[in-house]
Amino acid sequence: MRIGILSETASGERRVAATPQSTATFVEWGWQVELESGAGIEAGFPDRLFAEAGATVVDGPTARSADIVLCVNPPDQLRDLRPGAALVGFLDPFVDADLIQALNDGRVTALAVEAIPRTTLAQSMDALSSQANIGGYAAALLAANNSPKLLPMMVTAAGTIPPSRALILGVGVAGLQAIATMRRLGAVVHAYDIRPETKEQVESLGAKFVAAPTQEMDEGGYAKEVGADTQAAQHAALSSHVAESDIVITTAQIPGRPAPLLVTDEMLAGMLPGSVIVDMAAGSGGNVSASQPDTMVDVDGVHIYGPTNLPAQIPHDSSRMYARNLVALLERTRTDEGFTIDLEDEIIGGTAVTHDGTVVHPRTRQLLGLPEAGDDAAATTEGDSHE
Ligand code: NAI
Repeated sequence: MRIGILSETASGERRVAATPQSTATFVEWGWQVELESGAGIEAGFPDRLFAEAGATVVDGPTARSADIVLCVNPPDQLRDLRPGAALVGFLDPFVDADLIQALNDGRVTALAVEAIPRTTLAQSMDALSSQANIGGYAAALLAANNSPKLLPMMVTAAGTIPPSRALILGVGVAGLQAIATMRRLGAVVHAYDIRPETKEQVESLGAKFVAAPTQEMDEGGYAKEVGADTQAAQHAALSSHVAESDIVITTAQIPGRPAPLLVTDEMLAGMLPGSVIVDMAAGSGGNVSASQPDTMVDVDGVHIYGPTNLPAQIPHDSSRMYARNLVALLERTRTDEGFTIDLEDEIIGGTAVTHDGTVVHPRTRQLLGLPEAGDDAAATTEGDSHE
């Protein structure tokens, strides 16, 4: 059983999918770990630490030809992946149809961490949460570093400085960590989410919940897209809070849909120059009208950041958490002989997107325009048509 760890090639990516610690666990399981040389350097894990943990340091094609291949982002060289191998990582399975089709054509089993069920049982594997947590922290630091103001109140001989005001919009995993970090830095924090149960969570962190419309979730526990009336009511309720804030961090997302617009041009015009906005949803359409992915936009002195990969800015600990998530996930595939993909397992079955030449995830089937699984047509092997 060979497990390959890839060196990331995506621009700005500094994370790695395994650590010396997770390597030692795989070795303990009797798996042979092959690390692409240099894979962990940017995260602070040199080859020598992996080698000490039992890994063999190899080149890219060798690591890509393993039985299980671990990555953060999909490799750009898919042709080295072996039919029957499993690729585990952030594979964008509900958006990147071409990648999933290519993996299916190559008869690669795609285990997409975005598809891991958000259940208590799968909490230790929940890579979306571990990385969103670090993202929320990094967003707060980005905002603090670029604000011309102090965050905490300071009583000094040169006078008293009032605390900064921060507003967090969207209180999922990232938003909660952004609130906690802003509070630790001393800001006065207000927050809002469309899901009513977040009020208690906001208050438990010492922040104030903004009174604006709330609505129930979908059956998966996620926020639903709001209608035009609700959105207008949200904007009316948020507008004065945005104007009074020195820092706004937005994190609102709706899985598989464009992010909701929460901060409009009119609201931006109401903010003072020097205010800072970090739009964590910039990569999926943006919560802020003027934000751009990975670019700072200056609107009359209001600086709007749209970082799309904040966890990569804290690569050591984001890699540690991600590597632990993958160990917990792979533990469920482990057998005496090596590993197996059991689609009947509630976590592996939920995480698998392609297997054995078939697209098995219902949402990805929808994306690719395939009939629902269970239909006669779905029982055929989609990969066959491409062979
Ligand atoms: P996310 O990244 O999908 O979205 C961030 C936040 O934006 C969410 O809290 C959502 O309610 C909010 N939002 C969406 N549309 C909005 C709008 N129009 N206005 C204001 N806010 C809006 O969220 P994340 O962090 O991935 O969490 C999604 C869900 O999964 C939550 O219900 C969370 O409690 C749940 N969850 C469950 C876990 C478990 O049981 N193991 C672990 C982590 C999350």
